[in-house]
Amino acid sequence: MILHLSDLHFGTERPECLKAIQQFCQSHPLEAVVVSGDLTQRARFGQFFDCKKFLDQLNTPYMVIPGNHDIPLYHLWNRFFNPFTRYQIFFGELEPVFETENFYLIGVNSIRRRYHTKGHLSLEQIQRIDMKLAQAPVSKLKIIVSHQPFYVPSQNKRGFKDSPLMAKIALQAWAEHGLFGVLHGHLHQPATYDLNQIFELGLDHPVYDVHAGTSASNRLHQNEPNSFNLIDATGNISQYLFDEMTQSFVFKADLPKK
Ligand SMILES: [Fe+2]
Repeated sequence: MILHLSDLHFGTERPECLKAIQQFCQSHPLEAVVVSGDLTQRARFGQFFDCKKFLDQLNTPYMVIPGNHDIPLYHLWNRFFNPFTRYQIFFGELEPVFETENFYLIGVNSIRRRYHTKGHLSLEQIQRIDMKLAQAPVSKLKIIVSHQPFYVPSQNKRGFKDSPLMAKIALQAWAEHGLFGVLHGHLHQPATYDLNQIFELGLDHPVYDVHAGTSASNRLHQNEPNSFNLIDATGNISQYLFDEMTQSFVFKADLPKK
């Protein structure tokens, strides 16, 4: 099983959540921890340092991708000429491929200097990921990890604004390879949707858009609790919420697969 964390936003992190994540990792047989972006609040050196230290101390293999908060906001020179320098000092690759016993995970960097909040995918990126998916072992759950969600329901006041440009085109190509789902963060609101139905892909299996809430930040969406997702080898997706009383993450529900 894999633990899906997101939007840790070091700089605004809650130590009690970090401790609870650590305890959860110690008591569950995880194949990997996946963090779907926004590791930091302002892409500061110290924030990346603290995040890396925290992830290293989990003693579980982990994979991260950048979010829009992981490029500098105010330092314009770095923002335009070296947006990912600090990220890469600590985490290296922007689009890692990570294989475990039951999962084949591909990171996709949707963050651009200009479309940093909304996100963007390029044709080159879509084709490259397509080739990786074509070569993935058929026995493993194939998962893409990308910061902004591919689907946001219209009742959400942010609407489609923060879904990456070209997401639907990417999905039409990638889903052909038996893709299980796409993991995201960004909205600080956990949810799961079936993209096969929503985008009418015509496949005989669901393709899940799995949104994680913020797992450790005090920047909560409408006071929703901190949360994360757990995905097992059968494809079951469970949502856990932080319980202030017990200071631990507790099972809430298998996420509705709408
Ligand atoms: Fe974000």
